[in-house]
This record gives sequence, C-alpha cells and structure tokens, in this order.
Amino acid sequence: MRPRRVKNSMEIINNSKYYIEPNEANKGKYKELFGNNNPIRLEIGMGKGDFIVGMAKEYPDINFIGVEVQEAVIVKAIKKLDKENLPNVKVMMVNAETLDEVFDHEIDTIHLNFSDPWPKTRHAKRRLTSPKFLDIYDKLFIGKPHIIQKTDNILLFAYSIEELVKHGYIFNKVSLDLENEAIPNIQTEYERKFILKGEKINYLDAIKVNK
Ligand SMILES: C[S@@+](CC[C@H](N)C(=O)[O-])C[C@H]1O[C@@H](n2cnc3c(N)ncnc32)[C@H](O)[C@@H]1O
Repeated sequence: MRPRRVKNSMEIINNSKYYIEPNEANKGKYKELFGNNNPIRLEIGMGKGDFIVGMAKEYPDINFIGVEVQEAVIVKAIKKLDKENLPNVKVMMVNAETLDEVFDHEIDTIHLNFSDPWPKTRHAKRRLTSPKFLDIYDKLFIGKPHIIQKTDNILLFAYSIEELVKHGYIFNKVSLDLENEAIPNIQTEYERKFILKGEKINYLDAIKVNK
C-alpha cells in the first residue's frame, strides 16, 4: 500500500515530538528512547490514534508505539497527540511488513484493532494475522508473543484464530461480544462506528506458549 501524500504533512510529522522514524539505528533501543524499563506495546494500523491516546492515559506505566502506513492518517493522529502531553507514546509511519527491520525483541504486546479484512482468498497474505505477519511478529517480542485483536469482521476473526493456533498461540480470552464482557476496553474510531450500527465486536487475547 503506497502512502497518500497530503499538504505540509511531512512538516507536521517531523515537527512532532511524538514521531519517530522507523530507523534501523533505533533497533533494540526503544527502552532508552522512552527513558524507562516499562513494557512497550505496538498498535499496528492505529488509524487516527484514539485507541493509543486513550490507552496511554489509562496506563501511564506502559509505553505505546502506534504504527500506521498511510501518511494522511498518521498526520491526523499526530494533530490529536500534539494537543496532549503523553510521555509514553510515539508514532511511526511504516508498513508492518518491515517491522522486523525496526524492532529487535523489545515489544511486549501487539494490538490489532479493526485491521483491514482482505476478504478475497487471493489477498489472505495481506491480513495482519497471516503466517507471514505472525513470523515477523515473532522477531519483535521480548517475552512470550502476545496479541490482542478486536474486529467486527467474523471471517477475519475466524481466520485469525485458525492461524494463531497453527502458530502455537493459546487463548487467554475469546469473545464474540466485547461490549457485554467485563474486559477493560478503550474504543477505537472504527469500533465506535460499528457499535453505533449495532454490530458485535469480536475480541481475542492470545499468547504463544512455547516461544
Ligand atoms: C480499518 S483501519 C482501523 C484503524 C483503527 N485501528 C481503528 O480501529 O479505528 C486499518 C488501518 O490499518 C492501516 N494499515 C493497513 N495495513 C497496514 C500495514 N501493513 N502496516 C501498517 N498499517 C496498516 C490502514 O492504513 C488503516 O489506517
């Protein structure tokens, strides 16, 4: 996917204290970059950033890095973040396909929120829980791989469960109706839209046991 360009976008991105380049020089040094030993979570495909802002406020002892491939979208997230003072957030414009060039066994948890479902079988490799991506994620985690996914799309959800099992994950929690569970939850932009339409939110929390 090629990022769409927007006017002044690189200026907005580069002037933000929240932006970090997906730079190999930072690989393995994200704890130093945050200046503490707190766990680091990634949200892949963070969109306009509501989730990451909400999570960072709720969990100040966890660091969050939002990953987004589209320039126009990350600019919106940065504009939102620039109004906040959150020392535990960074954002990065990068395709998840190259995350193993950016991080080296330093991520605690990956959040996949309302990822594009890519419904056609010939596009299955692009789904963020395809074997190709699960292999990449293995190289990012510091401890046991831990993925939390939310999606409205039951076919993507079923696919994710199947691929996660094949990849050695077990489930701490699976729900077909997150809104009616006692699970702490920060809603995303897409989540709010789906809930307004009366759709149920699927949720899984998976951990890979034999790392
Ligand atoms: C459907 S939106 C969901 C946005 C947000 N997570 C939410 O729940 O509101 C999916 C986002 O993932 C981003 N995305 C898709 N594929 C990606 C990839 N390979 N790497 C990084 N971001 C990606 C898209 O640009 C888009 O902003």
